[in-house]
Amino acid sequence: MEINLGIYLVLLITSIKDVSCWNDRNRIASFPMQFEKPDSLKSPLETAPRLLASGGPSNPYNRSFDSLRLPMLGMMENATIKILFDIQDGIRYVLQTKNVYTFAYHGTGSTGLSAVIDNMIEPRDKVLVFVCGYWGDKGARTAQRFGANVVRIEKPPGSRFTLNEIEAGIKQHRPNILFIVNGESSTGVFQPLEGIGNLCHKYNCITIVDIIATVGQQPFKMDEYKIDVVYMNSQKGCGGIAGLSPVSFSPRAMSKVKRRRNIARILHTDINAQADAWFITKPVELKHDALAHSISVSLLYMLREGLARVAEEGIENVWERHADTHSYIQFRAAKLGLESFIANPEDRLHGTSHFNAPPGKDVFKIVDYMLEKFSIEISPGILTSFGKIIRIALIGSNSNRENAARIMNALEIALNSADTNL
Ligand SMILES: Cc1ncc(COP(=O)(O)O)c(C=O)c1O
Repeated sequence: MEINLGIYLVLLITSIKDVSCWNDRNRIASFPMQFEKPDSLKSPLETAPRLLASGGPSNPYNRSFDSLRLPMLGMMENATIKILFDIQDGIRYVLQTKNVYTFAYHGTGSTGLSAVIDNMIEPRDKVLVFVCGYWGDKGARTAQRFGANVVRIEKPPGSRFTLNEIEAGIKQHRPNILFIVNGESSTGVFQPLEGIGNLCHKYNCITIVDIIATVGQQPFKMDEYKIDVVYMNSQKGCGGIAGLSPVSFSPRAMSKVKRRRNIARILHTDINAQADAWFITKPVELKHDALAHSISVSLLYMLREGLARVAEEGIENVWERHADTHSYIQFRAAKLGLESFIANPEDRLHGTSHFNAPPGKDVFKIVDYMLEKFSIEISPGILTSFGKIIRIALIGSNSNRENAARIMNALEIALNSADTNL
């Protein structure tokens, strides 16, 4: 009798399960599909290798790229939290800083820009922005959108600012925040930072610096230069792919954040939420209550390994390697008769070089030729320089003489070809 009851129960449960499946299937069948599977997605993706030298993303270090295939850990595992701390150590090393508030936003460098502006600027704060290219302009426009009182000091593309000009601007406008770009990659100009931090201490303002086109390429010492806030991205000097934006905030910057009367406008990039999520302010024991948003653990591996690769080589050696690649490119370009867009050699970025289009040549055809014949991506410039210059950027893993020679040999052929004539 007991056995019969058992069998009966099993049959009942199975049939209920079957009925619910049958119901689901029926429900799905009652909604006929309106759109077919896209033909475009039927075959697997294939891509060809490229040397990425346009000034957009660079080829990552193998150590960083390979890490994307590692098994995914859970977001809140202690092993994942250890990676968060490794990344903080790596960013501090690359920036040469002790700043506690050092972490990476999910998103590209532009997310870092918006996030640092949102966190540092209260409505009506006066922000003095030094603009001599696209990225300075973008900083000014971003600050405007967040309600700041933006004052722009402008110079033509290809120039940089002297310390006297910067001090005169601060004295005249008395800003709460000074925004400047260390490497104006839209023109190839290097803006020295020495002395700016001291000025900002003297006149009581906070410095925000875009170091995307210089970090891991040219010497930068955040604490020594007394810079308050920086943002960067993961696809250039940090040696990885696009997706994360490392940032660092000095104690001075954090005391402004703590004094603010209005909260930051974007919740998930609020530095307080991020500081909890990166266990800067929240103890690890409270890990299950520390999320600002989902974490891409694979992107964390990518950045950790990129930074680890830089640390393995030594940041000073990485700077040296970029300086060497830069001199080689300049030397070969001079031999080809290419004129640099930036007249003063000291003002040129080490990672990104701009050359004027040679007379009679079409830069778009040169760019296409380099890609089609040699699988090398270079750029025809952006905005004011668009179509007028050739931009060659060898950054991170790409910065070495072998790649520089490969590019300049290919460019020589491209320039000698009638296919690239106007
Ligand atoms: C100087 C500078 N600032 C900001 C950015 C924006 O970074 P992302 O493209 O990662 O958003 C770039 C991108 O190349 C840049 O070169």
